Amino acid sequence: KQQYYTETYRPQFHFSPEANWMNDPNGMVYFEGEYHLFYQYHPNGTTWGPMHWGHAISTDLVHWEHLPIALKPDEHGMIFSGSAVVDWNDTSGFFNGQSGLVAMFTHADTYPGSERPRQRQSIAYSKDNGRTWVTYEGNPVISDESITDFRDPKVFWHKETKKWVMILASGQTVRLYTSKNLKEWEFASEFGDGHGSHEGVWECPDLFELPVDGYSNQKKWVLFLSIGDDPSFEEGSRTQYFIGEFNGETFTNDHKPETTLWIDKGRDNYAGVSWSDIPNEDGRRIYLGWMSNWRYANITPTKEWRSAMTIPRVLTLKTMKEGVRLVQQPVQELQKIREKSIHIMNQTIVPSENIISNVKGNTLEIIVEFEFGTAAEFGLKVCKSNLEETVIGYDVTQQRLFIDRTNSGKSDFNESFVGKHEGELSPYDNNKVKLHLFVDWSSVEAFGNNGELVLTDLIFPDQNSKDLELYAVGGNVKVNTLEIHMLKSIWRK
Ligand code: FRU
Repeated sequence: KQQYYTETYRPQFHFSPEANWMNDPNGMVYFEGEYHLFYQYHPNGTTWGPMHWGHAISTDLVHWEHLPIALKPDEHGMIFSGSAVVDWNDTSGFFNGQSGLVAMFTHADTYPGSERPRQRQSIAYSKDNGRTWVTYEGNPVISDESITDFRDPKVFWHKETKKWVMILASGQTVRLYTSKNLKEWEFASEFGDGHGSHEGVWECPDLFELPVDGYSNQKKWVLFLSIGDDPSFEEGSRTQYFIGEFNGETFTNDHKPETTLWIDKGRDNYAGVSWSDIPNEDGRRIYLGWMSNWRYANITPTKEWRSAMTIPRVLTLKTMKEGVRLVQQPVQELQKIREKSIHIMNQTIVPSENIISNVKGNTLEIIVEFEFGTAAEFGLKVCKSNLEETVIGYDVTQQRLFIDRTNSGKSDFNESFVGKHEGELSPYDNNKVKLHLFVDWSSVEAFGNNGELVLTDLIFPDQNSKDLELYAVGGNVKVNTLEIHMLKSIWRK
């Protein structure tokens, strides 16, 4: 069956499950022309429950096809988060000398005769491009009774040492293991004690290499690490990253241990990890995150389904005045779903005059370059009506970009939902700021200065809150260029 999604708040170009509950992206791998996206899935309800791996594929990262559930709970427990790789040279022996897909994930159950959670690592393989999976008879392949939170294996091939490497969350650290065949794993090292943020349980690590400023002879390793919701901190669940070196066994942090770097300054980008096996000719490191927050994920006001992923984003490293930092950009494939576009140049925005009052929509991409004038604050209001608005603004004195969802729509499901989320963003050429926004009825993703700062927030406005406003406070601001693209609703199968 083919139909458009029409339910209240349903994203029109973000990935969301056909029905029921979804959390973390899992097993993201590219193989024979298809991007695979698996995800934590509860097929029997719209809240978290016994975890399966849901499955979808895409040839362009934009149009997704839903496939049957890939992995179901079995005698070793539920199927928690994990990753997948192409075993090109059949190191595992599962593929009769051919290549195939191997997934590694956490089996979660309880110790026999007790309530104590048990988390062990297992593998499964597919000989038919991910359509069906066989769980390995030797599962689990890694267990350690001394650690309770022991999960979310991310595997990659390390070409210099010719070994598989796996990074795993382990209490308040990550552990690294190596293997020749994906079945037998040897402990290599541990990282994280005293490093970064420990304001929540460590989950969903990723580790990959990226060139700095595009120079292939100048590379750094990036370690992603999500931290769970802890009621003593206002942000809820969020994702940090580290930059450093990796020699096939040990990760060394370039920064002082107390430095904490966040991938997103909004509230709703969690458990993100990157695609494996994207061809060298492409060369991109692409990731997406789960667009929610454990603080309220189970009670967001959707009915038939719950949660969506962020748009896929390309990761790079850039040298900035404070050092090397992660940069995120929307994948260019998204340009294909631009439908109707409006272009405006060289306009001065003054208080109490809205030059885009005739433009309406709630599935939008907006790209705007502002040049400072006398205004202390300026920006855009989206998903607006007389009662509601979501503000994406820039505070000139503080040099901060923010999303304010205080009056964005429905928010009474959780007291910490309302609020303003912000991050530092220095102007370029001394007086310019660029915003790249994606609005999809119930979410806003704001990329500042080509992705140097990203804010991702859920919102729940009325469907008729479709007005837009360019605004300035306390003076004027110049809009050098503005593009507004209405984005297509995408067919789903
Ligand atoms: C992160 C997480 C993972 C776990 C999964 C369970 O959101 O808690 O650590 O594997 O969700 O669904």
